[in-house]
Amino acid sequence: MTTTPAGIASIGLQLPPLFMPVTELAELRSVDPNKYTKGLGCIDIALCPSGDDAATLAVGAAKRALSRWNGSIEDIGLVAVGTESAKDMSRPLSAWVAEELGLSGTVRSYEVKHACYGGTLALRQALEWKWSGAGAGKVALVIASDVALYSPEDPGEPTQGAGAVAMIIGEPTVAHVAPVSFPFSSPAFDFWRPVGDAFPSVDGQLSLDCYKRAVTECFGALIGDRDARSVLAEYQSMCFHVPFPKMVKKAVLHLGEHLGWSAQEAERLYLEKVEDTLEWNRLVGNAYTASLWISVARALVGLEEGTPITAFSYGSGYGAELLHLTAGPAAAAAPWVSDVDEDLRSRKPLDMWGYETLRGHARAS
Ligand code: HMG
Repeated sequence: MTTTPAGIASIGLQLPPLFMPVTELAELRSVDPNKYTKGLGCIDIALCPSGDDAATLAVGAAKRALSRWNGSIEDIGLVAVGTESAKDMSRPLSAWVAEELGLSGTVRSYEVKHACYGGTLALRQALEWKWSGAGAGKVALVIASDVALYSPEDPGEPTQGAGAVAMIIGEPTVAHVAPVSFPFSSPAFDFWRPVGDAFPSVDGQLSLDCYKRAVTECFGALIGDRDARSVLAEYQSMCFHVPFPKMVKKAVLHLGEHLGWSAQEAERLYLEKVEDTLEWNRLVGNAYTASLWISVARALVGLEEGTPITAFSYGSGYGAELLHLTAGPAAAAAPWVSDVDEDLRSRKPLDMWGYETLRGHARAS
């Protein structure tokens, strides 16, 4: 296939200004903190102050991606926001972003929804728009942005989080994305949020099983009839959607078992290629559509040009896709690290009383 070269030209991240250690939540819920830290692998939950939402995060991330890119706003021909934190059933989240950025005119602007997979779908559509030539020389602005909250006392509460990743799709200076990818979908009610409900409903065990099946299907398609060890050895890192860090480890161990590997060999794969990619996710929590791209942004840091990584996207409902990326020349300097450093340094901790107040459940003391 002859395609117009395209990939990720710039990345910007935005993390919220508040957080709560999961150990505080454990105290509030009278749960052994080891369940959240060791059992689920979480450290902190990133939280938005009241008034901030997925649009605020998306705008922040977009401004940062644009600030370190050598083009102008007139060069953008498509803006797509992947989210499951929509503000409106009709008006796309991209309209809030476009308004803030002064982006209007010959621009295709829309929102993409498929649970946590929506950001990846927006990215794929933007790449396919570029590769097909439909972009006519323009670039795309793709943003994955979410605020993940469960109802108080839900088992998912320690996995909450929020964040946004914006990517300019143009020259592959940050990363090249291979046109061939490995999707898999199978309808299920593993995690869903009916219209009008503030918080999701979850079938926890089913969601774990769907995620693991999607991993084996997508990696099975990547490996095909080649030797699994040599295929996976080609990748410097393997990034995953991160609902909570332990989910990723469970999925890698499950993949190893599916491939007929010993538990030790699968554990080694996890330690060598996956664990480091979770560093920022542990401090943010599940940022739904942004989770995978936070992990990818971390994995690209310092990579030599041409180094390959994988990115596994999963969205409940469910749909998944495995992508192959190679680092571009800008990955070595990775200027987006300053976004994360700045946001983590300046964010304010909430104790359990602050959290209760934020969620509107303050108790009279
Ligand atoms: P739970 O059922 O309360 O937890 O919630 P559990 O009882 O299964 O315990 C969790 C782990 O902690 C277990 O480890 C326990 O043994 C361990 P495992 O056996 O599984 O290895 N544990 C302890 N460890 C140390 N010390 C202790 C202790 N106590 C227990 N004292 C659940 C878990 C995942 C169900 C919950 O957090 C939840 O509902 N989360 C939301 C759903 C979710 O994240 N699913 C993941 C796949 S679906 C997905 O990724 C899509 C999603 O991002 C949404 C989208 O696409 O939009 C969620």
